Amino acid sequence: MTDIKKGLAGVVVDYTAISKVNPETNSLLYRGYPVQELAATQPADAVAYLLWNGELPTPEQLEAQREEGRPWRALAPEVKAAIDALPLDSHPMDEVRTAVSVIGAIDLAGIDNVLDAVGTIEQNRARSLHLYAALPAIVAYGQRRRHGLEPIEWREDLDYAANFLWMAFGEEPEPVVVDAFNRSLVLYAEHSFNASTFTARVITSTLSDLYSAVTGAIGALKGPLHGGANEAVMHIFDEIGEAANVTAWLDDALASKRKIMGFGHRVYKRGDSRVPTMQAALYSLVDHYDRPDVKELYDTLESEFVGLKGIYPNLDYPSGPAYNLMGFDTLTFTPLFVAARVAGWTAHIMEQMGSNALIRPLSEYNGPDERHIEGYTPDTATLRVAERPEEAAD
Ligand code: COA
Repeated sequence: MTDIKKGLAGVVVDYTAISKVNPETNSLLYRGYPVQELAATQPADAVAYLLWNGELPTPEQLEAQREEGRPWRALAPEVKAAIDALPLDSHPMDEVRTAVSVIGAIDLAGIDNVLDAVGTIEQNRARSLHLYAALPAIVAYGQRRRHGLEPIEWREDLDYAANFLWMAFGEEPEPVVVDAFNRSLVLYAEHSFNASTFTARVITSTLSDLYSAVTGAIGALKGPLHGGANEAVMHIFDEIGEAANVTAWLDDALASKRKIMGFGHRVYKRGDSRVPTMQAALYSLVDHYDRPDVKELYDTLESEFVGLKGIYPNLDYPSGPAYNLMGFDTLTFTPLFVAARVAGWTAHIMEQMGSNALIRPLSEYNGPDERHIEGYTPDTATLRVAERPEEAAD
């Protein structure tokens, strides 16, 4: 009997020097640094630099990276036009996926040989920074467009996280909000071979380009078993309403075998290493906005569900209500995850390019036994094959 590793659970497929998830010690390291330390001390774009280059930037290196990203911060007219061509009720993840696709098509225009589109390491660093710099304007505009509002220009005097909030809301954000948002961007930036990162690595392994890999990763992140969970958590909060309803709601949900979004993890089985940092950020927002009701609902659902099932919250559990308090629409939550995770995806894409092997696993066939077309003779087969469109090789 072949040992099938359904969902690739427990399968180690490659080395990575980018991050280390250790469920035993409940820790997550980016290039060796504990993520909690990075979230508490570093601006999100310095962490992106770390993921791409292996070391934290000096102040000069960070300034140089900011300078290089400057031309891409504004919403490019072609990208705005592509977003505007979509229905107003398109899912924002579809908008973001389309926007990245447009950026890639423009950047790679004129390259006929697909092998040339793969690019050098320097070109791919620049492409990674391009997407990282461009995504805040895209995500912020997506939210504004749904409210009938125009895009807002990037400001020179604000850092990456503060600018993101500025472009979304058009108000200078309070430091406590910037800090909570920056922490979320750092915590979401990277998480080893998760489903979307693996998708990006699979696409890269075929010698496709970075933009195609990121576009595919966005598709994988959209699902509620992955990034879509932060959005799904908020739907659950809206459904429950207030802490007093948790017990009855949970009874119903578990009786109908519903998955409780924001809980459980493929790797962490005793708690997600990122949750304490994000939970502290959520609590600071609860104080700032004077919303003890949110904390009460959050704490009650967590303690009751953990008590019943022994399944712990993941990062999406505190980040969903935190983004809600900041004023983001629920539909914008997963695009925020994209803007942060693009740093990790692109670091993995470059790592995959640096030591590539085509990712192509095997499967165990369990379909019908060999059978034959009725009336088949070699002569009729020749005719039919000639009529059929050419089949692409696997
Ligand atoms: N709510 C209810 N039950 C859950 C659960 C949840 N959030 N997460 C896991 N379980 C249960 C499963 O139903 C299963 O029970 P069973 O053995 O009786 O069938 C058991 O725990 C194992 O779950 P499984 O889905 O097989 O584990 P996994 O490692 O494949 O799944 C997730 C991990 C993340 C897909 C899963 O925990 C989940 O769907 N969580 C909700 C979505 C979410 O928050 N995703 C974000 C991840 S960062």
